[in-house]
Amino acid sequence: MDVNEKIKIIEEQAEKAVNEAESSKSLLELKTRFLGKAGEISSLMKNMRDVPPEERPSLGKILNALRQRVEERFDMLESKLKELELKKKYSEEKIDVTAPGLAKPDGAYHPNTLIRNELISIFSGMGFEIFEGPEIENDYYNFTALNTPKDHPARDMQDTFYLAEDLLLRTQTSAGQIRVMENKKPPIKILSPGKVYRSDDDATHSPMFSQMEGLVVDKGITLCDLKGMLDEFAKKIFGENVKTRLRPSYFPFTEPSVEVDVSCFECGGKGCRLCKGTGWIEVLGAGMVNRRVLEGCNIDPDEYTGFAFGMGIERIAMLKYGINNMKLLFEGDTRFLKQFKD
Ligand code: DAH
Repeated sequence: MDVNEKIKIIEEQAEKAVNEAESSKSLLELKTRFLGKAGEISSLMKNMRDVPPEERPSLGKILNALRQRVEERFDMLESKLKELELKKKYSEEKIDVTAPGLAKPDGAYHPNTLIRNELISIFSGMGFEIFEGPEIENDYYNFTALNTPKDHPARDMQDTFYLAEDLLLRTQTSAGQIRVMENKKPPIKILSPGKVYRSDDDATHSPMFSQMEGLVVDKGITLCDLKGMLDEFAKKIFGENVKTRLRPSYFPFTEPSVEVDVSCFECGGKGCRLCKGTGWIEVLGAGMVNRRVLEGCNIDPDEYTGFAFGMGIERIAMLKYGINNMKLLFEGDTRFLKQFKD
């Protein structure tokens, strides 16, 4: 077969292949077949050796022109294929805005968060500012400055996690009181929510739990101010008809110290399972800031007085929502948590 005929056949085949090619993958195969080193056109070029020397230049030209034409066809095909593929991709990616959405299950606030937010809203309504102290404290802030020096028996009230000789996980948000009083002169009115840690673990205790601390220091603050504020707080969180009562208690950093009960919001005070028949429920500890604590923070106890209070957020949540096992508040079981959806 003479060269011209071969050229014609190759060109026809290339044209046919171009018309049949459907993807850029088959285009690559075609390029190798026609234009590759071992491809059809290259092998024709290799045949030059058998052609008389005087014919070589013109044949060379013809073959180069052939290569160029085939290359051009393939280039055209390539851009056409790319365009088609892009179109296909776009149409596949098209978003159907009328399709029904995939509904994600709604989350719900954790009961602890609900109570914390409610407490913050009640107390900030009364003019309290939020202060958040560190969870890792040193002995001074957590104990000594709160009138609980080493060997003080009240240290046994709280089983402490020590990180080092002088470093511990705070056992009470009361530690924040000192940080505030050291940095701010009265009038002081702060609320300090946060996590606290104690080596304690049963149905009503957890090694980590949350507290909310309050501190008010100013001229002329008395226990009556504390009582008035507690009455307001109890009504807002447990209901309009709820009353408070103070019972004498002991905390090293307050004098006098009180335990605060609210009248049972379940039975109205008649006595039921929630209040264990007493008509009252204990909700928090409080008292007048001990003068030694004020002195330690360079606040003159003859000029200023104050009250402090501290409550367990989990305890309030358990009371308010009728939760009987504290563990439920730490397990993260969504079957339990989703019941608190508004
Ligand atoms: N810190 C106490 C505790 O964890 C709670 C407490 C009691 C805080 C009396 C106070 C207070 O501020 O005045 O048991």
